[in-house]
Amino acid sequence: MIEQHKALAALTTLGVSANARYFAAVNNVQELQFALDFAKQETIPWCVLGGGSNVLFAEDYPGLVIHLAMQGVSLLEETGEQVLVNAKAGENWHEFVKRCLLEGWYGLENLALIPGSVGAAPVQNIGAYGVEIEQFIESVEVFMPETGKSVAIPRQACQFAYRSSRFRQPANRDQIIVSVTFRLHRIARTVITYASLADYLAAQVEPEQRSNPAAVFAAVCAIRQARLPEPSVLGNAGSFFKNPVVNTQVRDRLLQEYPHMPWYPEQDPAQSKLSAAWLIEQTGWKGKRLGQAGVYAGQALVLVNHGQASGQEMLALARRIRAEVSDKFGIGLQTEVRILPATLSLD
Ligand code: EPU
Repeated sequence: MIEQHKALAALTTLGVSANARYFAAVNNVQELQFALDFAKQETIPWCVLGGGSNVLFAEDYPGLVIHLAMQGVSLLEETGEQVLVNAKAGENWHEFVKRCLLEGWYGLENLALIPGSVGAAPVQNIGAYGVEIEQFIESVEVFMPETGKSVAIPRQACQFAYRSSRFRQPANRDQIIVSVTFRLHRIARTVITYASLADYLAAQVEPEQRSNPAAVFAAVCAIRQARLPEPSVLGNAGSFFKNPVVNTQVRDRLLQEYPHMPWYPEQDPAQSKLSAAWLIEQTGWKGKRLGQAGVYAGQALVLVNHGQASGQEMLALARRIRAEVSDKFGIGLQTEVRILPATLSLD
């Protein structure tokens, strides 16, 4: 079950060439335990790979890559207006969203077409078009290699924040998500406030249909397809950087110089979110390339592989962009994408 010198390009949406010294696809907790024991025996590092849509292997991985492949969706409980639904980590996220819609389990419509797996979704608290996954999570089941047991972590203990959770913290990296339990609604309460979604619905959908979950799902799919590159055509990992959250003094200093700079309020009134796409656009990198690595012409936050980019080339472009945004605006962009091996970073 342990493979050697495994090519990873086809297992990631960026599609850059890199090999894993060892590789294991695991279908259940027993296989996961076996893989972890192997890494321990060999005293090599290990990492978990889900749908490969939020990762850049910038070099060959010297240890064991564990691909979580567990499948299964089950309805745990139905109480009047709500359902509890469990999905295994290896389920494809978009297929799961589609299934929920068809079953009449509502809430996830705005998160349609996000590439990746169910198990990876809570790690970065995926979000789009006004909705974040944390709103629908009941608990996250993690396997603890230390004890060989799985425990359910309730939402309140997951430390969810913008594109972040306890599972992103290096100290918790060995807590492996094996399934996620969602609390969804039987009666739709769609969120249609996000500007581009509201505009699309107003232009394309009859007024009485605009808050229909199937219409919202279809609208989100259409917007994403028009704005974001399809990974099988042009390798990418969605937003490469996070939108920076800054205090209002920093925002106001920038607004004096750039009055048209977009910004968005945060729950904490002392903070605002800036648009990383806009900041990158101002450096002139949108639509440009450095070797085979490029900035998508339609969305400056998305870095793309024009075909044969190496991991080092992708990293070099990301470093250039970060340096130029920092020089121009004094803002240090953080990556949304995980860079592996963990010994590498943008610094
Ligand atoms: N904008 C630009 N230039 C661009 C693109 C966008 O200036 O090239 C500005 C515009 O002002 C626009 C604003 O950015 O109004 C927002 O654009 P968009 O709706 O595309 O949102 P985003 O901030 O670029 C975020 C998420 C996406 C998510 C969309 C929609 C992050 C890091 N990214 O992008 O998530 O799909 O909102 O909700 O928060 C991902 O995380 O991988 C991802 C794709």
